Amino acid sequence: MSDEGHTGRNEISRRDFIKVTTGIVGGVIGLAVGVPAIAYLLDPAFKSGAKEAWIPIGKFADMQIGQPYAFSFTRVQVNGWERTSTSHGGFVIRKSDNPTDTVIFNSRCTHLGCTVNWKADAQAFICPCHDGKFGINGKVLGGPPPRPLDQFTDFRVTQDGVLEIYYKES
Ligand code: FES
Repeated sequence: MSDEGHTGRNEISRRDFIKVTTGIVGGVIGLAVGVPAIAYLLDPAFKSGAKEAWIPIGKFADMQIGQPYAFSFTRVQVNGWERTSTSHGGFVIRKSDNPTDTVIFNSRCTHLGCTVNWKADAQAFICPCHDGKFGINGKVLGGPPPRPLDQFTDFRVTQDGVLEIYYKES
């Protein structure tokens, strides 16, 4: 008699244990699925999908005066559930110690959009696609490009000495 009662209590406590365990496992699975899903939904609005942002390029002190400093960054555009990554890049040219005395070129060729490279021996930006050539001042020196290199005109140096450019999705 007392054995049966003992077994019954064990049975109940086992059921309770299973209920509690199931509840905990269910909660953990819910968190594991729910948190990333919510983060995914919020991410475009608050992070990489933002249509405009200040982009850190590098330590201003590390950029040598008169020497093009190459940089690149990636932005993610979100259209509904579709995400598209786009790479951007350019060259910072410091002219003096004064941060405002700086020019930042977009490395996108103004002909058909290939990426130009700085060739120190030629002292020119060369486009590999159709031999477009730009001077260190961005002006066209040869080839089919119809206009000088575009510039990132909105930039700042933070208190930590980091050069940032203002990116706006066009
Ligand atoms: S894309 Fe650069 S020269 Fe054509």
